[in-house]
Amino acid sequence: MKYILQELESRRDNARMGGGPARIAAQHAKGKLTARERIDLLLDEGSFEEFDMFVAHRCTDFGMQDSRPSGDGVVTGWGTVNGRMVYVYSQDFTVFGGSLSETHAQKICKIMDMAVQNGAPVIGLNDSGGARIQEGVASLAGYAEVFQRNIMASGVVPQISVIMGPCAGGAVYSPAITDFIFMVKDSSYMFVTGPDVVKTVTNEVVTAEELGGATTHTRKSSVADGAFENDVEALAEVRRLIDFLPLSNRQRPPVRPFFDAPDRIDPSLDTLIPDNPNTPYDMKELIYKLSDESDFFEIQEEFAKNILTGFIRLEGSPVGVVANQPMVLAGCLDIDASRKAARFVRFCDAFEIPILTLVDVPGFLPGTSQEFGGVIKHGAKLLFAYGEATVPKVTLITRKAYGGAYDVMASKHLRGDFNYAWPTAEIAVMGAKGATEILYRSELGDPDKIAARTRDYEDRFANPFVAAEKGFVDEVILPQMSRKRICRAFASLRGKSQQNPWKKHDNIPL
Ligand code: HXC
Repeated sequence: MKYILQELESRRDNARMGGGPARIAAQHAKGKLTARERIDLLLDEGSFEEFDMFVAHRCTDFGMQDSRPSGDGVVTGWGTVNGRMVYVYSQDFTVFGGSLSETHAQKICKIMDMAVQNGAPVIGLNDSGGARIQEGVASLAGYAEVFQRNIMASGVVPQISVIMGPCAGGAVYSPAITDFIFMVKDSSYMFVTGPDVVKTVTNEVVTAEELGGATTHTRKSSVADGAFENDVEALAEVRRLIDFLPLSNRQRPPVRPFFDAPDRIDPSLDTLIPDNPNTPYDMKELIYKLSDESDFFEIQEEFAKNILTGFIRLEGSPVGVVANQPMVLAGCLDIDASRKAARFVRFCDAFEIPILTLVDVPGFLPGTSQEFGGVIKHGAKLLFAYGEATVPKVTLITRKAYGGAYDVMASKHLRGDFNYAWPTAEIAVMGAKGATEILYRSELGDPDKIAARTRDYEDRFANPFVAAEKGFVDEVILPQMSRKRICRAFASLRGKSQQNPWKKHDNIPL
């Protein structure tokens, strides 16, 4: 018996060594942690339960039968993050470059199936040279099995991808289907075709970092939702994100203890809006002042900065925030902002996370590049996402809510549950100057007359009361009371139940 136990320990030790000390040293030399070190940081101490530690590939081509390391380049299993269950796979670059074989894929599929069945998120730590070249189509089949499961799990359990090394070719499409992608700066990249192929086909010379590094994907392509300095920071932030999310669509988001009074009054909000309606202010200040302990987990911070998306807590319960940012493009909606916010709204709705919308929007951004780029279709995504969402929706208009953008930003007409406005709100088809120039074109030669017309228009529309008269704004509230009013609104909506008509699925304009 003693010998048998020793044999098990020795096999385990061997599996834990992955590709061996030299390759582990090479991994560390690149500033990267090993697959197991990453799992240790991601999960609560001692909580990891491994599956399939002894799985080995079955390939016999290209001399592969002589090298069959235990685990086959991926560590899989489950554990807890602050006591809540998650499934995890972590690709081991020290074994065949973390490349995906048939059996490597089967290990990932096994934990994905369990995650969907048992209702817990899947976190994928990606560090791989892609398809195991020696296995050919068997490897491609393995990828497709993973993709299919990513698709089926979408909206059922949260799926998070962390890119911590190479992720190239078709391999990018598994993370692309998941809910959130985070990258590690300088040590990770994602692209469909690498710099060499790009050079051959298009004659462009570009480095891997420029083509698919963390900066590119968080600022330009918006493929990634966040970038972190190193493995340690990335994994700590994933733990922070998990704390905001329900384990599955069958469970409610977690409620945490909070140390911030829900009826906290903040007089500084009474002066947040500048006297000049064209002067910007930082919408993030409002988000911080509304949320429990000023904790805001921002999603896509570096992309489409004219709209802010992320998670806060109110009375300990997670809330998704979408907010126009007057500091960038005056808070206009454009193609990028619409796509960014629409995807976020749909994530929240899929996982029953209530949505708070903070509105200061002068309209959609004009211009040929927007129209040629399809702002009609992309703007419709956000409209669609808000309109189909059945989670509690609370909206606060702080200043401008003009034109179609007023409708889009979780208005009463899109089934907003509580639509509040500050007294500084201006709700109209367009700004006063533009409106008078159209309505009184014949008087344009007379500046005094036009100025009087503009003042008239402002008196009538540059306030929230016309909308309040019609019930489109439920209440005009004092800025300093915002946290209290919004917390009470969400508290009153905890029992909300709303169903859309049965359909196979909708046809959101993609
Ligand atoms: C098998 C692989 C491998 C792969 C790396 N290795 N990628 N083995 N299949 N795809 C092995 C290497 O042979 C090497 O083994 C070890 O992993 C480490 O690789 P290095 O090249 O030494 O590391 P590095 O210099 O850091 O370069 C990493 C790399 C490079 C840039 C990822 O290895 C590379 O270009 N690999 C091939 C990438 C690729 O073309 N993959 C297929 C993409 S298409 P030894 O024994 O020497 O240490 C794809 C399709 C998916 O993925 C389709 C889904 C639909």
